[in-house]
Amino acid sequence: MTYTSVLAKQRRFGETTRTDAWWIQPLLVFLGFSAFIAYSTWAALQGTDTVHCYYWLGGYNPNANGANYLSPFFSPELFSVSPDAPPAVFGTLPAIWPGWLPFSPAFLMMWVPAGFRFTCYYYRGAYYKAFWADPINCAVGEPRKTYLGERYFPLIIQNIHRYFFYLAVVFIFILAWDAWDALWFVDAAGKQHFGIAVGSLVLIVNVYLLGGYTFGCHSFRHLIGGFLDSKSKVPVCAKGYSCVSCLNHRHMLWAWMSLFWVGFTDIYIRLCAMGVWHDFRIFTF
Ligand code: FES
Repeated sequence: MTYTSVLAKQRRFGETTRTDAWWIQPLLVFLGFSAFIAYSTWAALQGTDTVHCYYWLGGYNPNANGANYLSPFFSPELFSVSPDAPPAVFGTLPAIWPGWLPFSPAFLMMWVPAGFRFTCYYYRGAYYKAFWADPINCAVGEPRKTYLGERYFPLIIQNIHRYFFYLAVVFIFILAWDAWDALWFVDAAGKQHFGIAVGSLVLIVNVYLLGGYTFGCHSFRHLIGGFLDSKSKVPVCAKGYSCVSCLNHRHMLWAWMSLFWVGFTDIYIRLCAMGVWHDFRIFTF
């Protein structure tokens, strides 16, 4: 007896037998990601202002009330362009920078978190659907007939993700330092006091969520133990692997919560620095 198998006819674009509202998820990803990209680009461009500095709540800003909060979009601040800006790592922007080219401290560092998210395994699956409709969702007809995947240029570049992971870890420590700074308040005599304000909590939660996202990375999971054939023979790696796996199981949730919160942290500091919101001090020693 001979058997012949018949390949299912390829679906037309958008054709599916799914009966659920499969289009909602890619639509939400499209709206969420678009909103974040639009806001973060706008916020980064505000750093070109050579008069006002609203990405830092501190210094001589009359709304600072002794606080010291730096927006995560601008940390670390390597060069500053505003006299109101916090002391930058390398001081003011050198004269060698062409005058016709706008400069914002965010330009020098935002490519790291942006590259880390853009190449993230979870986000890739999400924005391929939401922005390229490729596929528009699981079991829904695609707009093309061939599949090249990520083994060829340009998407093979996505393999750079593990290197972005190394850089992203450095940023977690830098942002943790900023959160520590947010726990110290200067009084009228210039003396520092330990305390907690709403802004301190905003910056601490930011590090917590970004840490949960970063340390649940698939690349980290591989690096810490996934590369071993038999993890049980190296208990340290086995333990590390299970910790990272724990975060990795909710990677999508960490990704969106940290994305939302990092944007909110910038908004909070910006509005407080502008005097629109008032930072409430819970206590100071
Ligand atoms: S896979 Fe998402 S951050 Fe690495």
